[in-house]
Amino acid sequence: MSANVIAIDGPAASGKSTVASHLARLLSIPYVNTGSMYRAVTYAVLQQKIDISDEAAMKELLNNMQLEYKADEAGNFSLSLNGVFLKDELVTPEVNANVSPVAAIPMVREKLKKLQRSLAEKQRIVMEGRDIGSVVFPDAAWKFFVTASPEVRAKRRLDQSRESYSSATLEEIARSIAERDRIDSERPVAPLKQCEDAILVDSSNMNVEETVAFIAERIR
Ligand code: DC
Repeated sequence: MSANVIAIDGPAASGKSTVASHLARLLSIPYVNTGSMYRAVTYAVLQQKIDISDEAAMKELLNNMQLEYKADEAGNFSLSLNGVFLKDELVTPEVNANVSPVAAIPMVREKLKKLQRSLAEKQRIVMEGRDIGSVVFPDAAWKFFVTASPEVRAKRRLDQSRESYSSATLEEIARSIAERDRIDSERPVAPLKQCEDAILVDSSNMNVEETVAFIAERIR
């Protein structure tokens, strides 16, 4: 099943989601953004006001939530939580601020890893996240680690989410990205790190087209 996977990992706001989705379109295969799965769990935690240190409550939440990847009305492969497609709800400042601690919980990672592996059983896919090449598909056919300088990443996040961040300064955004990287890299389970066999893609000085072309060239 790993042979079906092109894994794209990297830190927050490195541009990897845009690159991964364009690459998938170029190859005419589905694109799966695993960050949105962690965000969906975080959204449910916030909605139900669950204390994430309460193991029993977290277990109940995970057992009762129906998280699926399926075609939406437009035919795009999208994430649905209990039958409802989620989008803007996943990128609020509240979800941004709480997703890293939620993603550090082993029980949450186990549940999402199973879902992620099941998606690659029947088809070739581009899957993007933090631990796709290191943990979810260690034998992935292709592994890329996409990154960019902290300044470029803060600017990209600002451009991408102008509304949610309307009152925030570039500095604040850079700080919140750095904090998320720190939690993601220091967690004991599946930390964010470049695998030895992943190809490093520094997109600081490349636009989306150039980055996609760089990756596609290696795959070809
Ligand atoms: O890619 P993103 O910013 O939407 O990811 C949101 C959070 O989810 C990020 O802080 C780390 C976590 N994440 C993870 O731990 N493992 C993944 N495979 C994808 C995301």
